[in-house]
Amino acid sequence: MARKKIALIGSGQIGGTLAHLIGLKELGDIVLFDITEGTPQGKALDIAESAPIEGFDAGYSGTNSYADIEGADVVIVTAGVPRKPGMSRDDLVGTNLKVMEQVGAGIRKYAPGAFVICITNPLDAMVWALQKASGLKPSMVVGMAGVLDAGRFRYFLADEFGVSVQDVSAFVLGGHGDDMVPLVRYSTVAGIPLPDLVRMGWTSQAKLDAIVERTRKGGGEIVGLLKTGSAFYAPASSAIAMAESYLKDKKRVLPCAVFLEGQYGVDGLYVGVPAVIGAGGIEKVVEIELNSGERSMFDKSIESVRGLVEACQQIAPHLG
Ligand code: APR
Repeated sequence: MARKKIALIGSGQIGGTLAHLIGLKELGDIVLFDITEGTPQGKALDIAESAPIEGFDAGYSGTNSYADIEGADVVIVTAGVPRKPGMSRDDLVGTNLKVMEQVGAGIRKYAPGAFVICITNPLDAMVWALQKASGLKPSMVVGMAGVLDAGRFRYFLADEFGVSVQDVSAFVLGGHGDDMVPLVRYSTVAGIPLPDLVRMGWTSQAKLDAIVERTRKGGGEIVGLLKTGSAFYAPASSAIAMAESYLKDKKRVLPCAVFLEGQYGVDGLYVGVPAVIGAGGIEKVVEIELNSGERSMFDKSIESVRGLVEACQQIAPHLG
């Protein structure tokens, strides 16, 4: 069986990390694309030269031409600019919207059968724009945010409890912004919900609240430390989990930005919810009942996403 083809649009910090991980996991052959000449070619060659040492087989090429992504099975998009200290994800809208239009046109022409994962921020609005610009079915265009947000939540919880990250599961809803909704009652250690763990004395409510707040601002914490860009290792790992579930038809249930058509009372927006990813792309949205507190946090998050999409519609009315 021929190897799968994975195209990475954007060969910066996340793009390079994605390319390395795909090789290490032998998920397929990699095409790195960027508008900067030399960057995708250089990263492709550098990683290819690590393959004999690591012992993996994967083809690597770097390009500045969309024609080279032709027939890709998966496309992961990180093209655009990351934020710097003092910026919110929303400050990136104007610049990155234009980039999504270009990338969408490239995908429409050369990789219309691909499963497309968008990472570019502000995520929920950029994945909306990418789906419109590419014209692909919404079930084949998805945004990466929830796996990352849940990953951060899981890491902080495992650290607090002194248990393996493997045994902590977390549930995060809403947009990829500071008003995302980490759902405490559906987050567990070995199946035990967090409110029970507070009652059992594993942590205090105050500490748990602080962890929720740190999760919400997790991206900003990294930007503040790095100063020259935003997080890239954990975002890359998160997108790989989604790509792998599609390529291997694993049907993992992962929180991702999915196009909602009535679920959770939302129509026509991309919002972070748990979804099943398999060979059909987004195969199912998992819809849970929210209590009134969760509902109001969710609604606030939706309003932020809606505001960003409206800003995109004003800049680029032709997107619809
Ligand atoms: N087409 C293709 N690539 C582009 C374009 C474009 N129109 N515009 C910019 N790029 C490329 C840049 O040349 C750069 O190599 O996108 C790459 C982005 O890489 P980085 O600046 O290193 O950013 P990164 O940390 O990878 O983050 C990318 O993901 O998490 C989000 O907020 C983050 O929006 C940002 C994106």
